Amino acid sequence: MTEAKQPGASALLDVFDQLALRPVRGEGAYLFTADGDRYLDFYGGHAVALLGYGHPALVAALDRQARTLFFQSNIVPLDVRERAAASLVRFGPPGLTRAFFVNSGAEANENALRIAFAATARTRVVAIEGAFHGRTAAAGAVTAGHERWYGFPSEPFAVTWVPFDDTAALERAVASDVAAVILEPVQGVAGARALSRGFLAAARAATAAAGALLVFDEVQCGMGRTGHPFAAQAHGILPDVLTTAKGLAGGFPAGAVVVGEGLAAGIKKGALGTTFGGGPLAMALVEAVIGAITAEGLLDRVRRLSARLRTECLTGPVTAVQGMGFLLGLRTVPPAKEVLARLRERRILAGGSADPHVVRLLPPLILQDAHVDELVAALKEIRP
Ligand SMILES: Cc1ncc(COP(=O)(O)O)c(C=O)c1O
Repeated sequence: MTEAKQPGASALLDVFDQLALRPVRGEGAYLFTADGDRYLDFYGGHAVALLGYGHPALVAALDRQARTLFFQSNIVPLDVRERAAASLVRFGPPGLTRAFFVNSGAEANENALRIAFAATARTRVVAIEGAFHGRTAAAGAVTAGHERWYGFPSEPFAVTWVPFDDTAALERAVASDVAAVILEPVQGVAGARALSRGFLAAARAATAAAGALLVFDEVQCGMGRTGHPFAAQAHGILPDVLTTAKGLAGGFPAGAVVVGEGLAAGIKKGALGTTFGGGPLAMALVEAVIGAITAEGLLDRVRRLSARLRTECLTGPVTAVQGMGFLLGLRTVPPAKEVLARLRERRILAGGSADPHVVRLLPPLILQDAHVDELVAALKEIRP
């Protein structure tokens, strides 16, 4: 059946609830619309614009790589891919020394679980209530609320759900048929909820004792966002598998699965694959992003400005602040939706979350004191 398209109607599938705001340009921490409005962006397109917009080192790296070699797949070795992997494992927790590059967070988690099933020959996964790991089959199966949008006829494997930060329940769940525990050290979509160090340490101990793998999904909280390269380093807890994506290439699609030598030795040629993953444009950007975070001392900046945000945002409609670094949740008296609308009227973008009373902040690591001042001033003007 074909229907005539309405003149002027969008050719896009209408699957996203969109803001009434059409950005045409970005610079630093700001977005600009066609109408000439300027928005301070505390959301970064779901945590992706890690270094804001138009960062000179990223633009130069992309331009240089595009002119040199636009694409080649993993069928050939590439210097830029080797350099990106070396930068990533140097930046990440000591002990995780091998990276496999993919295109997104869901794909990274899909491969992390595939590695866990192969390494353990087991079939069950333990996940944490409130988790978001992506929309593909395996990632969707370990994502809270999957009944609502999982979209496949059956689940691919058994999942045991553990209440958030419930150490006793976790220890009970990690039985001898468990291939992996997968968790976000700071749950993003749930509203910037940080698991406690005690829970993470218990997850490490229980998985080690049971011969299961511990997977840290740092797709959202990784790449410097906690004020440490990864939350694993912030807590001094080494997972067996670490996944990351979102800000990994500063806005270009890229994801990664990182493992140690022990696991790497058991992953055979052909066990994992991708066409676009590890492509030269993404790889040049991964190298540039990590280079800029290091050269500009951005982790110190995240820690310092996060401390300011945590105390100074306790004003207006905000009663508590949760999360870590630049992945923060502002608990609000009015619904977060209303606070977000009031912030947008004041030309500030922030995010919602699965919690209707949590506004999520995911600002770029290049944030400045003046931007914090701007947000705090706007919050002060919003009635509780
Ligand atoms: C923690 C976490 N894992 C995985 C994903 C999925 O990433 P992607 O949308 O790139 O597939 C997300 C996306 O929001 C996420 O926040």
